[in-house]
Amino acid sequence: MSTAVSGIDLAKLRKRAYNLRWATLPEGVIPLTAADPDYPSPQPIADALARYAQDRYWSYGPPAGITSFRESLANFYTTKRNIVTNPAFVIATDTAAFGIYITCKAFLNAGDEAIIFDPVDFLFQYSIAQHGATAVRYAIPPGSDNINFDGLERLITAKTKMICLCNPLNPTGKVFTKAELTILGEIACKHNLMILSDEIWSDIIFQPHTFTGIASINDAIKNRTVIVTGFSKSYGLAGLRIGAVTAFNEQTYQLLMQASLHTATIHGANTAGQVAATAALDHCQEWLAEVVSHLQKMSTLCVDALNNIPNVTCIAPEGCYVAFANIKATGMSSSQLAEILQHKAKVAVVPGKEEWFGPGAEGYIRLSFATSEEILGEAMHRIQTTMSML
Ligand SMILES: Cc1ncc(COP(=O)(O)O)c(C=O)c1O
Repeated sequence: MSTAVSGIDLAKLRKRAYNLRWATLPEGVIPLTAADPDYPSPQPIADALARYAQDRYWSYGPPAGITSFRESLANFYTTKRNIVTNPAFVIATDTAAFGIYITCKAFLNAGDEAIIFDPVDFLFQYSIAQHGATAVRYAIPPGSDNINFDGLERLITAKTKMICLCNPLNPTGKVFTKAELTILGEIACKHNLMILSDEIWSDIIFQPHTFTGIASINDAIKNRTVIVTGFSKSYGLAGLRIGAVTAFNEQTYQLLMQASLHTATIHGANTAGQVAATAALDHCQEWLAEVVSHLQKMSTLCVDALNNIPNVTCIAPEGCYVAFANIKATGMSSSQLAEILQHKAKVAVVPGKEEWFGPGAEGYIRLSFATSEEILGEAMHRIQTTMSML
């Protein structure tokens, strides 16, 4: 087993892992639910936090975030993502989810429309609705390749203000190609739309796929992009509640700052989270590479097991540590099957309910495979056994 994922401590997870996971489920149920890893976060993060805590100062931080965090993230985008980034336009946020929220608040008014994909994680729909705007869905079913976005352009009206891109796409695991992103970016430029690019999953990419950030394509696209990211998926820091939004010009940055309420001290990213995220960016890239190679194996294990179950098919995700399995041929709804799996197989999965991912998710279940081979193997064995008896 890779050392990065060794040392899974179920007793601690049962006390600490909420949001549909170990701490919220009856003993004996394996959660393949919320995308939050079972393996512990990397040691350099614990060391950086211990050193910081030892100083015993937990004063207010700067409204836009600690300089070292903003510089580390800007350096990451500049060197690893080929997007020259000014640290002065990075804002540390309380989670990627809040980054999505403030981007919607900054660029959407009541009555506006924003385009989102179907299926996609519920956070876009939620934040768009919170600001009185409407999410208009463009279907990207699992397995879609070479998308030309023809139909997407037809959804654009005078009310459309933003395109929300989730790349890689949770829950289908699609990694958008440079050609697809170029077309999408050009549509945004043609219709004067902002691009919210949620790249929280961009470290979790499986070979032979590669990640392209839409802002790396050209300056016109970059100038209308806000990148949202977070540290829950790659480094297991969900409880530290840390993310970031990055703008590429002064005006966008000011609108995001205003929307954040950080200058009023009503909101703000906690300093411990920023220290942890800085250590993640600066000292945990080898750990991350090891984890991605483990996850690639777990993806194969999970997808192969799913494809061996009668009436279930699953394509291999290109990115994200989730498998999105088509269960339509079972004749059951995703909620019915998830119920059966939890009670009979003692494995919890996420049903493809409209409220989680949009109408295009019905007939699918999502399984997170960010765990050890032992736990995942046991979970898949239980699912196969239960489903063979249905
Ligand atoms: C696409 C996407 N964006 C954002 C988030 C939320 O991340 P955070 O914990 O930083 O709010 C998630 C979590 O599942 C996600 O899948």
